[in-house]
Amino acid sequence: MPGKYTIAIDGPAGAGKSTVARGAALALGYRYVDTGSMYRAVTLLALERNVDLNDHLALSELANNAKIDIIESDEKKITVLLNGRDVTEKIRDPLVTGNVSRVASVPGVRKVLAAAQSAMAAEGGVVMEGRDIGTAVIPDADFKFYIVASARERAARRARDLEKMGYPVDLEKLAEEIETRDCLDSSREVNPLRPAEDAEIIDCTGMTAQEVIDLIVKKVTEGRA
Ligand code: DC
Repeated sequence: MPGKYTIAIDGPAGAGKSTVARGAALALGYRYVDTGSMYRAVTLLALERNVDLNDHLALSELANNAKIDIIESDEKKITVLLNGRDVTEKIRDPLVTGNVSRVASVPGVRKVLAAAQSAMAAEGGVVMEGRDIGTAVIPDADFKFYIVASARERAARRARDLEKMGYPVDLEKLAEEIETRDCLDSSREVNPLRPAEDAEIIDCTGMTAQEVIDLIVKKVTEGRA
């Protein structure tokens, strides 16, 4: 295993971060942490408990009291447990996806989840994926990558993922939703989506996931970027 580096992978929705982060973690023998799944788990809990999504205090308390565990298999397949319950599939429900940006914009929720994520990265040997990993969660990460792709390609990717899970797909609507979510994620006051100054930006439009994984693994195994 090359070093025990911390690797931050950020970027907008649907750019292929998850596939790339998972693949890089597998190749490097590192832990893979999908931080979006934690925001999704809190959102699911809020919806299930009918918490008003404008009530920041209630949402922060919910995040603070929720026990979220991310368990990975040898192939880096992730199981998300929320208070001991397997919510891996439920957190991908379009209803959760449609509300998660609002929950992720709540400062108290971000504070709780970012602290938990920083603790997970403390030992190194981790590929952590999200929106604010390089800027806020692990500002001193050894490697920071910011992955982008055209909105069209990102919508097409999300469509394929949703179709696989059996959800009906409207590509136009999906592209609009992705742009709305990017806009919300980039314009929130606390830790908005943006590349860290020292992040390497990879535009993977037209690249296969494997090509992006190989690029990242090469940079990491060759030493500090
Ligand atoms: O990567 P994803 O689509 O599962 O992320 C779900 C939402 O959570 C997305 O709207 C952005 C937000 N998020 C965030 O604000 N910060 C992170 N580190 C990870 C995700």
